[in-house]
Amino acid sequence: MGRVFVTRSVPQEGLSKLQSQFEVEVWDGRDPPPRDVLLEKISGCFGVLTMLSDRVDSVFLEAAGRELKGVANFAVGFNNIDVEAATVRGVAIGNTPGVLTDATADTAIGLMIAAGRCFWPAVRNVSELQWRNWEPMMFLGQEFRGKTVGIVGMGRIGSAVAERLHFGWGMKVLYTSRTDKTDVDQRLSAKRVELDTLLRESDVISLHTSLQKETRGLIGRDQFGLMKPNAILVNTARGEVIDQDALVQALKSGQLFAAGLDVTDPEPLPNDSPLRQLDSCIILPHIGSATFQARSKMSMMAAENLIAAVGGMPMPYGLNRVCKC
Ligand code: DGY
Repeated sequence: MGRVFVTRSVPQEGLSKLQSQFEVEVWDGRDPPPRDVLLEKISGCFGVLTMLSDRVDSVFLEAAGRELKGVANFAVGFNNIDVEAATVRGVAIGNTPGVLTDATADTAIGLMIAAGRCFWPAVRNVSELQWRNWEPMMFLGQEFRGKTVGIVGMGRIGSAVAERLHFGWGMKVLYTSRTDKTDVDQRLSAKRVELDTLLRESDVISLHTSLQKETRGLIGRDQFGLMKPNAILVNTARGEVIDQDALVQALKSGQLFAAGLDVTDPEPLPNDSPLRQLDSCIILPHIGSATFQARSKMSMMAAENLIAAVGGMPMPYGLNRVCKC
């Protein structure tokens, strides 16, 4: 029986599938395995089920050795994986697209409301025993009906967010994308525009682009300078898409009304990060896909990916083509 290492506890549905075929070891620590331990654990494995916090690079692939057939990332994002290095070594890489779209889109909407309506300072007001009276001028926020949302990256999650906002609040939808999206243009009366136009005209900006060389630091000082002063910025993509120092400045100077972040750079944020101090910034610990339904489907898809790869078949949710020669 081949060995498979799973780098964190995941829902049992996927684990049971793996356990029916392989000798499975699960790292059940609250924190990820330290790098040296991880490299030791994967040695000789046929497959590894990884998290977005595990770096899968040439050192990882080398440490796993020649038996390694596949790495299944328990995420749709795969910026933690050097897919090219894996392809060169004939290691299949897979992810979990689609099943976390609704969960992540719901998180983005939650962050928009929470940031736009000042939930974070309001919750703190209650928990820190500062709540004195009904106050007509406290925690005044923004309304959404009829406003404009700018979706940066109109993929599955971006369009699910746009759909909620268009049909729910009659919001006008602008978006950036590498390609035209005629279906969303028609269904949501959406308009593809340049990033600068989107930033200038949107009341809510929601980031859904993957992290690549071109999108690292995509939203920086110049981009904040284009935004409306009452704008709300939401990020459920990757923390590195925003220049965080520029975000702190924009929030402190009132260039931006508020931000809602499910992702930061790094994760977790250091204790002394100035972002933690700002009332106008609500931060979640990367829980975009954290529903029972999404996580359970993610575990099944990751297991199916590994079973296929170890059996010499293409992964059903594969990201590369590997040569069997
Ligand atoms: C992903 O899948 O990429 C999310 O960021 C975590 O679920």
